[in-house]
Amino acid sequence: MSRTNSTSSTLEDKVEFFKGKKVIVTGGAGFIGSHVCEELVLLGANVFCLDDFSAGKRSNVAFMTERANFHVVAKDVCDDDSVMGDLFSGADCVFHNAASKKNVCLLDPRRDLQVNAGGTLNLLQYALKFKVAKFVQASTGSVYGEPKVFPTDEGHAFEPVSYYGVSKLAGERYVDVFHKLYGLNTTILRYFHVYGPRQESNEFGGVVSIFLRRILESQNPVVFGDGHQVRSFTWVKDLVEANLAAAMSTRSGGQAYNAASGIQVSILDLATSMLRVLEQGRQLQVEFGDPLVGDIMNFEVDNRKIREELGVTFNQDFWGTLRLALTNTDAFLGR
Ligand SMILES: NC(=O)c1ccc[n+]([C@@H]2O[C@H](COP(=O)([O-])OP(=O)(O)OC[C@H]3O[C@@H](n4cnc5c(N)ncnc54)[C@H](O)[C@@H]3O)[C@@H](O)[C@H]2O)c1
Repeated sequence: MSRTNSTSSTLEDKVEFFKGKKVIVTGGAGFIGSHVCEELVLLGANVFCLDDFSAGKRSNVAFMTERANFHVVAKDVCDDDSVMGDLFSGADCVFHNAASKKNVCLLDPRRDLQVNAGGTLNLLQYALKFKVAKFVQASTGSVYGEPKVFPTDEGHAFEPVSYYGVSKLAGERYVDVFHKLYGLNTTILRYFHVYGPRQESNEFGGVVSIFLRRILESQNPVVFGDGHQVRSFTWVKDLVEANLAAAMSTRSGGQAYNAASGIQVSILDLATSMLRVLEQGRQLQVEFGDPLVGDIMNFEVDNRKIREELGVTFNQDFWGTLRLALTNTDAFLGR
């Protein structure tokens, strides 16, 4: 099937589009990347999961390794060698999800710059050289910094307030340059507050998984500040759909999209609700810690562009989805 300009695709469309295509998923052993790999494997793509395992886990992809159309390539996105050349040769599509993440880069901003900016540039050069048909870049709402205009759309000023945000913005800028200078078919997806199974629950993980692990280990969930900071929690499978839609669409070339549910949930609400469901006599309560430096208080994300142009829909029933997902807490924590 050729690319589509329709705003929603059926399963048959997706199979027809991806079946037999060589796709590279960087960060494929991480939280979001492993879900992207999983869906592409099911659709019959020939999936190459490129990951240096600095944060990703073999266990996140172990269930796919028996499949003939799934391959793990343990490499750094910054590498420039013949293995990368072999990998990109004949590739149709790159889903670039590898990144050095926010909390880590507060400790090591140089690594953050190397991976999120330099690694992206490296992949773009390979994509151009080997004439890859599509490059989908995972970016972040952190490029906006503390939003000043609500709802926040893609035209908002870029004022990142973290090393991570700066380095991810640099990655975006390289993507744009390759589109403008060379016509590389690129799409930027700005993710926000993703949650779902296999998210890391250590101090570098997501708040839902961290609260879950603490409650199961009979520790109080810790809220930094007063807990009134809101997040636009976005179900990981909706982002998988956003990635597929970006690759399939004829309209997405050179575009950037907010990929967020648009819902607003306060951290305090999250902690109290998770305690209500999971506490089960552990006698836990919400604990308050010092506010985090650079923490953003308010998110009201405008997701109209991705809904209207790419037909991506977002689960609005955060509590229902969470309750269902938590029926298997081990799977949620990737154990
Ligand atoms: N989780 C969120 O809420 C969120 C929000 C906004 C944006 N994002 C973006 O989504 C993408 C995926 O994030 P995630 O939450 O799945 O994080 P993750 O840490 O689970 O996944 C990132 C993966 O990249 C790999 N990686 C890191 N450096 C690498 C390198 N130099 N070479 C190869 N692989 C490397 C890690 O091992 C890991 O498997 C990232 O680009 C991130 O910036 C995530």
